[in-house]
Amino acid sequence: MGKEWTVHNPGGSRRVIVTKQLPGNRWLDILVAADCTVEVCESDDVLSVDEITERIGDHCDGAIGQLTEDWNADLFAALKAAGGSAYSNYAVGYNNVDVAGATASGIPVGNTPGVLTETTAEMAAALTLSAGRRVVEADRFMRAGNYHGWLPTMYMGQRFHGKTVGIIGCGRIGAAYGRMMVEGFKMNLVYFDLYANENLEAFVKDYSELLVAHGEAPVTATRLDTIEDVMRTADVVSIHTVLDESTHHLVNAERLALMKDDAILINSSRGPVVDEVALVEHCKTHPEFKAGLDVFEDEPAMKPGLNELDNVTIVPHIASATTWTRQGMATLAAANVAGILQGHPLWTGDDVLPFLDGDFPPYAPSIVNAADLGIN
Ligand SMILES: NC(=O)c1ccc[n+]([C@@H]2O[C@H](COP(=O)([O-])OP(=O)(O)OC[C@H]3O[C@@H](n4cnc5c(N)ncnc54)[C@H](O)[C@@H]3O)[C@@H](O)[C@H]2O)c1
Repeated sequence: MGKEWTVHNPGGSRRVIVTKQLPGNRWLDILVAADCTVEVCESDDVLSVDEITERIGDHCDGAIGQLTEDWNADLFAALKAAGGSAYSNYAVGYNNVDVAGATASGIPVGNTPGVLTETTAEMAAALTLSAGRRVVEADRFMRAGNYHGWLPTMYMGQRFHGKTVGIIGCGRIGAAYGRMMVEGFKMNLVYFDLYANENLEAFVKDYSELLVAHGEAPVTATRLDTIEDVMRTADVVSIHTVLDESTHHLVNAERLALMKDDAILINSSRGPVVDEVALVEHCKTHPEFKAGLDVFEDEPAMKPGLNELDNVTIVPHIASATTWTRQGMATLAAANVAGILQGHPLWTGDDVLPFLDGDFPPYAPSIVNAADLGIN
């Protein structure tokens, strides 16, 4: 059965396909202002490569796709053959995109950084508190009618104040989460990343001086040499790396075994960064250990046994799901495609907020293979 597609601005001189309905209107206004006819797939099902290829057809100028779709080299070759010259992922991560394949076809690949950072970090913080303070377990207990009176030992969890938070992948989201935990709970921070995050370290140093000036204990931010050091040291470990070959199963059975028995592991990056089978086993054998997961190895499936564990808090990949962020992502994805189709230059600032309100800036906000394609 063919999927239903809605066509906006049918008289446009350019044709752009969008594989899922997107929130808000600004993204559509941007594409219509760029004289595009916009065709939106109405189905909630994940589109296959064949279905997307079929929709691209003989003539298609650009596409906005989803992280659930396999944007492989064949798909970019099909887009190129249809006269296409612009693609944007509706995500900041692009592990679902064969960027080399897109580059080989001369197709710029956009992503949507800058509007997910705080929102995703907030979900990591929410999962941390939920897991550590057993919020979901206690909610289920209440709903089941099991609360028969206050007890000194009921649902005891972890105190965060003054403990150590560990971050694996301390880029935009990792650093934002780290700051929330340092500022909110006065935690000390350790991190593992391929690069030093000097801004974060400088901020925590200044913040610590402020705390000390007010008679409070200092806090620290320290880059550790190995991921093993972070796993051993931290009371909470939160994962914020990209997913690529270097991070696949970065958290495995051996590294889980290094963590404190009552530690908390949070993953809001991508599912395959954690060996989920090993995590299920670890949570079974370490009842004091807690995990909070937004992402899963075989989404939408979970590894057997995960959903039976009381010490695991699970949500369906909603870390970026605030209205502001999801509309912002749509706006940036549309601005990437419209910007490239209109020959606009690349936006060079880190701050993408000017795209979200007022006049549309005549730039493409974020193209990951711009350097390889000579776009500037
Ligand atoms: N769950 C969600 O809804 C959601 C939302 C937004 C982003 N994400 C995921 O979060 C990831 C991070 O986003 P970001 O905006 O912070 O990206 P970013 O590029 O700013 O940060 C990623 C960090 O990971 C580090 N890194 C890369 N390889 C590593 C390795 N082998 N070991 C240690 N560190 C490594 C990088 O140096 C960088 O500092 C995205 O790639 C995406 O997959 C998930």
